[in-house]
Amino acid sequence: MAFPENFITELVERSDIVDVVSGYVRLSKRSGSNLFGLCPFHSEKTPSFSVSPDKQIYHCFGCGKGGGVINFIMEIENLSFPEAVELLARRAGMPLPEQTDRVQDRKRERMLSLNKEAARFFYEQLAAPSGQPGRDYLLRRQIGRRTAVNFGIGFAPDSWDSLKTAMGAKGFSDFELLDAGLVRRGKNGGFYDTFRNRLMFPVIDVRGNVIGFSGRILGDGEPKYMNSPETLVFNKSRNLFALNLAKKSKSGYIILSEGNIDVVSLHQAGFDSAVASLGTSLTPEQARLLSRYTSQVIIAYDNDGAGLKASQRAIGILEKLDLRVKVLRMTGAKDPDEFIKNKGPEAFRKLLEESENQIDYRLRAVTDKYDLSRDEEKVEFLREATDLVAKLPGPVERQVYALRVSALAGVSGDVVSAEVERRRKKLLNRALKSDEREQSRPERQLQPTERELRYADPASAAAEEGLVRLLYLEPALGKTEDLPQAEEFSSPALGRIYAAIRGKIDRDAAVSTAALAEELSQSEMSLLVSLLQKPELLSLGEKTLRDYIRKIRDQKELASGSVDLRALAGKLRERKGYEG
Ligand code: CTP
Ligand code: MN
Repeated sequence: MAFPENFITELVERSDIVDVVSGYVRLSKRSGSNLFGLCPFHSEKTPSFSVSPDKQIYHCFGCGKGGGVINFIMEIENLSFPEAVELLARRAGMPLPEQTDRVQDRKRERMLSLNKEAARFFYEQLAAPSGQPGRDYLLRRQIGRRTAVNFGIGFAPDSWDSLKTAMGAKGFSDFELLDAGLVRRGKNGGFYDTFRNRLMFPVIDVRGNVIGFSGRILGDGEPKYMNSPETLVFNKSRNLFALNLAKKSKSGYIILSEGNIDVVSLHQAGFDSAVASLGTSLTPEQARLLSRYTSQVIIAYDNDGAGLKASQRAIGILEKLDLRVKVLRMTGAKDPDEFIKNKGPEAFRKLLEESENQIDYRLRAVTDKYDLSRDEEKVEFLREATDLVAKLPGPVERQVYALRVSALAGVSGDVVSAEVERRRKKLLNRALKSDEREQSRPERQLQPTERELRYADPASAAAEEGLVRLLYLEPALGKTEDLPQAEEFSSPALGRIYAAIRGKIDRDAAVSTAALAEELSQSEMSLLVSLLQKPELLSLGEKTLRDYIRKIRDQKELASGSVDLRALAGKLRERKGYEG
C-alpha cells in the first residue's frame, strides 16, 4: 500500500513535528534550536527527548528512539505506516489520495492467495496416504485431530516438487513461488520445494491472512524449524505464531513460549492465549503487537540456560511498554509441552497462578533474608528493599511497592516513599555520569542503543554510518560509480538502511524520514536518526565518500582474514604518506 510521493511530502510539510509532538509531550526550549521534553517511550525524570524543528525529527538520547513525524505517530499510537498517514492526513485536513501503487498491491494479494493455496495443499497432504509420517509424528506428540485442524497443521511431502507442481496447476508461476519463499533455486537454475518432509504450521496474521510457514522436522535433526524467508507479506520480527488465535482468548494474559509445539500443546490443554515468536528472540515490534491485545504477558520459555537468558531480554522489552510481566517457574520439565504431558493441565494452571512478577519475587527474597522484629535488621532490610523499589521504572509501581515495604517493616509509607525517591535520584545521577563516560569512549559511542543492532565491527560500522549519513544528506552522491553493495556492510542494520536510501536515489525519489518510514523498521529508523545527529563535512563530499568506501573494504578484507597483513600495512602506510 503506497501513497504518491508528493502526497507524503505535502503531508509532512503540513504536519509540523513540534505541533504534532506537542499533542503528546510537553516540550520546552533549552539551548539551541531543539526543544526538549520527557520521553514518551521510556520513563524518565529529566528530559532527554529532543525535537528538532529544523530537521523535523525527534530523537531520545535516553532510549535511542527517533524518526520523523510519521514514525512518531506510528510509535506512539501503535499504528502501521498507512494508518499513521491516515491519522496525520485527517489532522491536516487533507483528503486521502487514490492508492496508486496497484502493482505492489496486486503482488501482495497474489502472494497471500498463493500462501492460502499452499496451506490448503499441506493440509490435504497430511490426510493423504503419503502424509503417514506427519500423522505418526502428531500421534507421537499427542496432538489431536481437533487441535491440528484448529491450527491448520499440514505436511510437506518428502519430494522435490510436489508443492511446485500443485501450485503450478493452480496458475502460480515458479517465480511467484520463489518470491513467496516456497521454492528455492537449484544450481542448474531449476526450482525445488523449500519445505520437504516437515510438519507444516501456517503463520496466520491477526487479520487471518496466511503470511508464511514454519516447518518442523519430524523427530530430531537440524534445523529443527525452517521458516519462510522475509517476503512482501512476511516479516518475522513483526508477527507471532498463533496470535490470530490468542487474540480471541478471554484469559486476560498472553503466554509467550518458544516452540510451535509448545504453543499447540498449550492450546490443546486449554491455554488458548499461547503464542511464540518465529525463530528470533522477542523483538520490540512483537512486544508492541502484543500490547495491542493484552496488558499482561506470562513468559514460559524453555527451562534451560538459553530460555532463561531469553526471558531476561523479553522482560526488558515488555516492561518498556508498561506490560505486566510474569515469569513461569517450571520445574521437572524442559518446556511447557513436557510439563503438561507429565503433570497435566491443572498443574500448569497452578503454575500460571503462582507465577510471580519479578519484583514480587525479588522482594520476597529480600524479606526472607532478615528478621524484621529486630531493629538493626529492619534498617538493613529497608536499605535493600528501597534500593530494589527505586529501580522500578514506573512511578505508580514505585508507589505501590513502597507501600508494601512500609507495611512489611512497619514504618510510615511517606518515609519509605521519600527514601525511594532519594535513592532513585542517586541512581539516575550515577547512570547519567556513567553515560557521559561511555559517550566519551569512541568505540562505545558508536554502538546503537538497541542491543539487536550491536555492531560486530565498530571500525567498519563507523565508515558505514558515515556513508549512510552522507548519502542521506547529499543524495546526488548516490550516483557515484562503484558504491559498495549493502551486503558488503558489516552491520546488517546499516546495510538495510543504506539499501533503502539507495533504492530511493535510484528511483529519483526524495530521501527523507517520511519517504523511508514505510520501509525501515522502527529500530532502523531510530538508528538512522541517531547517526544523523553526528556532524558531517558536506564540503568534502566525494572525497569523504571515497574514504568511507575504502575503509569498509579494507576492514572487510581484514575481517575475512584472507589478507596478507604485511601487505595491507604497507598499503596503509603508503596511503598515509601521500595524504600527508
Ligand atoms: N524456533 C524457530 N522457528 C520457529 C519456532 C521456534 O526457529 N518458528 C526455534 C526457537 O528460536 C527455539 C527453538 O526453535 O530456538 C524452540 O524450540 P523448542 O521449544 O525446542 O520447539 P518445540 O517445537 O517445542 O520442539 P520440542 O518438541 O523439541 O520442544
Ligand atoms: Mn518445546
